[in-house]
Amino acid sequence: IWTSGNFIHTEIDKIREIVGDKRVLCALSGGVDSSVVAVLLHEAIGSNLTCVFVDNGLLRKGEADDVVKTFRDSFSINLVHVDARKRFLNVLKGVTDPEEKRKKIGNTFIEVFEEEAVKHGPFEFLAQGTLYPDVIESVSFKGPSATIKTHHNVGGLPERMNFSLIEPLRELFKDEVRKVGLELGIPEKMIMRHPFPGPGLAIRILGEVTEDRLAILRLADAIAINEIKGAGLYNEIWQAFSVLLPVQSVGVMGDNRTYENVLAFRAVSSVDGMTADWSRIPYEVLGSISNRIINEVQGINRVVYDISSKPPATIEWE
Ligand code: XMP
Repeated sequence: IWTSGNFIHTEIDKIREIVGDKRVLCALSGGVDSSVVAVLLHEAIGSNLTCVFVDNGLLRKGEADDVVKTFRDSFSINLVHVDARKRFLNVLKGVTDPEEKRKKIGNTFIEVFEEEAVKHGPFEFLAQGTLYPDVIESVSFKGPSATIKTHHNVGGLPERMNFSLIEPLRELFKDEVRKVGLELGIPEKMIMRHPFPGPGLAIRILGEVTEDRLAILRLADAIAINEIKGAGLYNEIWQAFSVLLPVQSVGVMGDNRTYENVLAFRAVSSVDGMTADWSRIPYEVLGSISNRIINEVQGINRVVYDISSKPPATIEWE
């Protein structure tokens, strides 16, 4: 039978056998998958692992700091922290199409990552946190089109860069990855964190991504998540997040009419992200999320709750 302990032992042996004393590069995003890959690799090969963390400016509140603290300070992993926030914002200027956002973010990520690989290399191997559902969604046929959305953490990277790939999580589902992560001693806060797409907040800002809109969304999202955690619901939910809509609505504040942004809040239950149902969050919790966001976030005067399931909707809005 599968246990996280067995998995770790077997994988560490496999990795050591494959890698020997060669060097491995790993893109660390701070998400569950890449975190588990990084720590697993570090257990297996120690300082022959180098992780590159690219801050693309599209992360949630406090996330960049958490990554550096956890992996460099407490795990002592070789971590290269790249501040590429400006570069990504520039590339996204004027871009509104979701797939175009993904492509631009994916390509910029590859550029930045390649530069770092050259700077800190040479590396023989590249480790990636590809999961089983990623593999399926990217290669299998779903309805009339080959892929629903391009997932930028799959493929693309290695071909040009001439690495051998190491994907130790390729056969695992998310819940199994989480068990492995906890067993490896990664803080629960990181392991139980909801999945977060590679293109980050860029695909949760419908329309153009700007610094101002990022700031609005980041704050609203942090408030919503804080309320969800306070209500003890976070770990029951697969993903909860906010989406900044390209829509303004009329509101009233004191004696004045406002004309501000609408924010959509979404929370879903799922086992693997392939299908999902909207979470039946108690009205009081939804109420406090809405009140707090409208009171505390300048630029939002209306919050709506998304009650669509997947399919036919997707989890993300873009
Ligand atoms: P959808 O929106 O397709 O999302 O129902 C399914 C799961 O995939 C995540 N997602 C992405 N992850 N790059 C990623 O790394 C992407 O471009 C991307 N798009 C969606 C989404 O958050 C959900 O967990």
